[in-house]
Amino acid sequence: MTLDLDFQQQFIRVTEVAALAAAKTMGFGDRKHADHVAVEAMREELDQVEMSGRVVIGEGERDEAPMLYVGEEVGALKGDDDAPGVDIAVDPLEGTNLCATGAPGAIAVLAAAERGGLLHAPDIYMDKIVVGPTARDAGVHLDAPVAENLRNIADAYERSVDELTIVVLERERHERLIGDIREAGARIRLIGDGDLSAGIEAAIRGSGVHAAMGIGGAPEGVITAAAMRCLGGQIYARLTPLNKHQRQRVAEVGIDDVDRLYEAADLAPGKEILFCATGVTGSRLINGVRFFGGGHRTSTLFMSLTQQTIRFVDTIHREDLGTPVFFR
Ligand code: FBP
Repeated sequence: MTLDLDFQQQFIRVTEVAALAAAKTMGFGDRKHADHVAVEAMREELDQVEMSGRVVIGEGERDEAPMLYVGEEVGALKGDDDAPGVDIAVDPLEGTNLCATGAPGAIAVLAAAERGGLLHAPDIYMDKIVVGPTARDAGVHLDAPVAENLRNIADAYERSVDELTIVVLERERHERLIGDIREAGARIRLIGDGDLSAGIEAAIRGSGVHAAMGIGGAPEGVITAAAMRCLGGQIYARLTPLNKHQRQRVAEVGIDDVDRLYEAADLAPGKEILFCATGVTGSRLINGVRFFGGGHRTSTLFMSLTQQTIRFVDTIHREDLGTPVFFR
């Protein structure tokens, strides 16, 4: 299957339309509405793609999400056994609060792979450490003391621990983690939301981020893993069910060992992985949607594992041909 050649443009369009829909609601203070319009737009555009697609990571289970639920078939050729079978992980609006408050870092994201190429993870929490290619073989382990992991990451970067910056979601559950990082001497960037973007930053040299650590969503973990496969980074992860019901959910999706340690190739084992993220509100990595009279401009990070390409796609969408194009 040639996921790349056939689907590149179409997938870019999918995250672009979702980002545009969400961006139009930026700062309205209504995260549910922002998410809803992004989901609707993404779903409609996914249905134009010439594939028989299946959502493996989505907006929730069938009974709780009307659109882009796990197991939903999408694509112009859905149900056609001769059509390319594609598994899709979507997060139409990653950082719903960020969009609702106009804070930086909200993105519209999807990852795609051949059938079976992305783990169907339940919508529960996951403990994660994400590092880039420089530190992927540094001996980082989820069960190692924080100070030891930081020392190993620092060694890989040939610097001292106090020259590292670690991104952590600002949550009560991270009090101890934050304390341990501070005690070890590394710098911390606390973020309100968006550990997926933080993971991507950790894998890009020059972003000023050396690792993302802490507990966030498992679906975001799978999409981060897809990005790490394309970037050569690594994610170390373990599901963290909070109660009996969540443990049951883990079993229901076919995972026998709840304590299993995952790496990127376990969460996103596909051979043909595509990753696509369009900025909604701007961040250091990807610009948000910019509106001008007569059109708008989007920025998308598009990565392909098979092509080994990382593209920054900047697109001006004109509403009529009379709209001037700015050089900038
Ligand atoms: P949403 O886009 O669904 O609001 O998720 C944002 C996010 O911050 C993720 O990046 C992160 O994995 C998760 O929420 C953390 O969950 P919680 O807010 O419950 O701590």
